[in-house]
Amino acid sequence: MNIIETIPQMQEVRKTLPEPVGFVPTMGYLHEGHISLVRKAKEENASVIVSIFVNPTQFGHNEDFEKYPRDMEGDIELLEEEGVDAVFAPEADEIYPKDFSSRVEVIGITQKLEGNCRPGHFRGVTTVVNKLFNIVGPDRAYFGQKDAQQAIVINKMVKDLNMNVDVVTCPTIREEDGLAMSSRNVYLKPEDRQSATVLYRSLMLANDLYEQGERNAETIREEMVRLIKTEELARIDYVSVADPLTLDELNEIQGKALVSLAVKIYKTRLIDNVILG
Ligand code: PAF
Repeated sequence: MNIIETIPQMQEVRKTLPEPVGFVPTMGYLHEGHISLVRKAKEENASVIVSIFVNPTQFGHNEDFEKYPRDMEGDIELLEEEGVDAVFAPEADEIYPKDFSSRVEVIGITQKLEGNCRPGHFRGVTTVVNKLFNIVGPDRAYFGQKDAQQAIVINKMVKDLNMNVDVVTCPTIREEDGLAMSSRNVYLKPEDRQSATVLYRSLMLANDLYEQGERNAETIREEMVRLIKTEELARIDYVSVADPLTLDELNEIQGKALVSLAVKIYKTRLIDNVILG
């Protein structure tokens, strides 16, 4: 497996890899969710490249960039076991040299939900994903449904900018009790861990209500909020029942609905979602 730190080296190795090339961009500290993306990429492509880069521009000033969990050695071991062809793991100044002054931004849908709570976050994501696509030149790129809004934003960027990459969104991988796998779960203290299942429990409640015929989105939001508030450690950033393309909040569910939420369990901010319909 090639472990690559510079852009020219990455571009050279890319030329030697059999096509099609699948690409899994990550910020490292890999878990089963990432590995499921790698396996899907292996299934569908002749070669697989994974990037590991904790992207500073998608973190706000008050966020966890410095303490974001990192384990390069462990990640490389896992990727080697999965038979990945190349790992691109640049330093920050390789991606953002001193004179770097460009941004890629999708407007509209990036102002809602996560974008509303984390101003500038998606500009950081689309800028780095655009750069990574240009450097790696993948045929397909793999993202997790857990970051539903990110997947929607990246799809929009690829469509708007006529980028020659197929974006593949893969299902959320969960712990046995339903907690969505996330690198940030490592922040959860043992006493937070049980409370953290309230995200999944509230999504299941939304799903049950929908299955029982409830189509009033506000009723579903209210019931979810009521359940989450029974957890003392939980603080809600948002609970949303929205159109999966525009991310506009729905009154009545007619077609599909993206039910998503962001909740802080003590100091750990978690997100999750399901699609209804
Ligand atoms: O989902 C992530 O891990 C990141 O947002 C991504 C897509 C690797 C961009 O930094």
